[in-house]
Amino acid sequence: MDSDPGAPLANTPISASGKQNTHDSWNNAAAARSTSRAFSVEGGRHFTTGVSGLADDEDRSASDTAGSIFGASNVAEQRSIAALLQHAAECGLQRLDAELLLTRATGLSRATLRAHDELPVAASAQVQFAAECSRRLSGEPLAYIEGSKEFWSLPLQVSPAVLVPRPETELLVERCLTLLPTGPQHIADLGTGSGAIALALAHERPQWSITAVDASAAALILAQANAVQLKLQHVDFRLGSWCEPLGDRLLDAIVSNPPYVATDDPALAALAHEPLSALAAAEDGYADLLTIAGQARRHLRPGGWLLLEHGSTQAPRLAAELATLGYAEVVCHADLAGLPRVTQARWSAGTLNVGDS
Ligand SMILES: C[S@@+](CC[C@H](N)C(=O)[O-])C[C@H]1O[C@@H](n2cnc3c(N)ncnc32)[C@H](O)[C@@H]1O
Repeated sequence: MDSDPGAPLANTPISASGKQNTHDSWNNAAAARSTSRAFSVEGGRHFTTGVSGLADDEDRSASDTAGSIFGASNVAEQRSIAALLQHAAECGLQRLDAELLLTRATGLSRATLRAHDELPVAASAQVQFAAECSRRLSGEPLAYIEGSKEFWSLPLQVSPAVLVPRPETELLVERCLTLLPTGPQHIADLGTGSGAIALALAHERPQWSITAVDASAAALILAQANAVQLKLQHVDFRLGSWCEPLGDRLLDAIVSNPPYVATDDPALAALAHEPLSALAAAEDGYADLLTIAGQARRHLRPGGWLLLEHGSTQAPRLAAELATLGYAEVVCHADLAGLPRVTQARWSAGTLNVGDS
């Protein structure tokens, strides 16, 4: 969502606006990191005095950080939009990310940045831009820098306490909405993180009773804040491990996007800014998937659905394990990239009593 305050485009420096945008390029992090080159501090860590926009100690401290990135003397200069984007590109930042960060710093839309790239940028906006470029180049997801991420067209607050919701997880929401009747249903979202899945379902089906579970108190606090912000306060948030907080509830569906990356998967290195506890699972990434599948049998009514997101290579073994556990109608669905991503299974072997092993 670009924003353009419609301010006159006179040749006055553009100042920092603090506006928040939501964009979809978190997954450029690894690419940005792999191509970035080290920044040198031109002229050492000294600042030109009397730079407009650096009025107080806080600005000086921020510009000190930024100076270590773009070169202290560069931040002090009044530079144009074009010059800043050019410099970001030379540092290895992808054009889209650089534009989005400059949009945040200036409050101008991307279209305006492109149409008027000769405009000078105020020192304070340069400082913000440089600091956020540095964070992005270190591999930090754009969503953490912006503090938000759109999921299912809902703006969600995110922080390093939660996984950044992925677009492919919307398939899990779609499958749940397709399989279940629109009338009152009881659903649990296990490992809710930012609340993405639970809140998307709550938004689409206000009449459903939804319980959202996470083992992380920090994640649950954020998920609850998202529920309040979105006015979806009928979701019941519970702290605990997988099905344990469900008590003796019987449900129509259990959905989960659990950690499923193998603990020794080299791909984890590119995801280092996100919580490991949200990403990695033992037993080649299957441990949490299988724990949930086992526990869910005691909480699904006969005919209830289990929907699991998983890694693109995990579908065959997961299907076999689900069949062994007594599930039927096991079907895997591919995500928009054509990769096997979500498996649905129906509990058909009769309800196990809570407490049965
Ligand atoms: C892959 S993230 C999914 C977050 C969110 N549902 C989404 O799709 O964006 C997995 C979540 O499971 C949570 N988690 C990890 N172990 C757990 C456990 N034993 N019980 C409950 N939640 C757990 C993590 O804290 C994390 O929020």
